[in-house]
Amino acid sequence: MANILSTLRQDHKNMTQLLDALERQIDTFAAGRQPDLDIVLAIANYVLEYPDRFHHPVEDLVLDALRQRDADAARPAEGLEREHARIGQLARDFNGAVETWMAEEPARRADFLDTARAFIAALRDHIAHEDREFFPAAEAALTPDDLDQLAKNLPDLDDPLFGAADHDSYVRLRHNILEWSADSAADS
Ligand SMILES: [Fe+2]
Ligand SMILES: [Fe+2]
Repeated sequence: MANILSTLRQDHKNMTQLLDALERQIDTFAAGRQPDLDIVLAIANYVLEYPDRFHHPVEDLVLDALRQRDADAARPAEGLEREHARIGQLARDFNGAVETWMAEEPARRADFLDTARAFIAALRDHIAHEDREFFPAAEAALTPDDLDQLAKNLPDLDDPLFGAADHDSYVRLRHNILEWSADSAADS
C-alpha cells in the first residue's frame, strides 16, 4: 500500500479537480445557464462520503502521530481538527443547499451559490495551508515505524470517485473530471 502521506497528497490533487468541476457548474449557474444537476449532486454526495469520512479523520491521526514524535513540528498544524469540523459543516450545508435547490428551484438560487462558494473557498484554503505547513512537517518528522503504525489504524474505505473501482453513481462525474483534465493538458 502507498505511504499514507502520499495518499493524502494525492487526495488533495483529486479534491482540487473536484472543486474545479464544481466551480464550472457554479459559474454556469451564476451566468444564468442550467448546470448539470447530476454532476452537482454527485459532488454534493461525494464530499460527505470520502473527504469527511477518510481524508480528514486520517489527517487527524497523522497530526496525533506528529505531536507525539515532535511537538514543535506539529505546532503550525494545531487547529487542524477544528478546521476539519468546520469544513464538514460546510459540506453538509452545501449538500443541504443542493437538495433544497433541487426541490424548490429557482427560489434558493442565491443561497445555493453562496453556500457552494463558501465551501469551495474554505476547502481550497485548507488544502493550501496543509500543503504548505502540515505535510512537509509530517514528511520530515514521521519515521517509517510511525507510518507503519498509522497504516494499521486507517479507516477501511475506498475512494468511490478517484479509487480503482467504478461506482455507478460517480461515472458521469468521473468522466467530466477526466475530460477536463485531458482538455487542459492539451491546451498547455
Ligand atoms: Fe485537512
Ligand atoms: Fe487535507
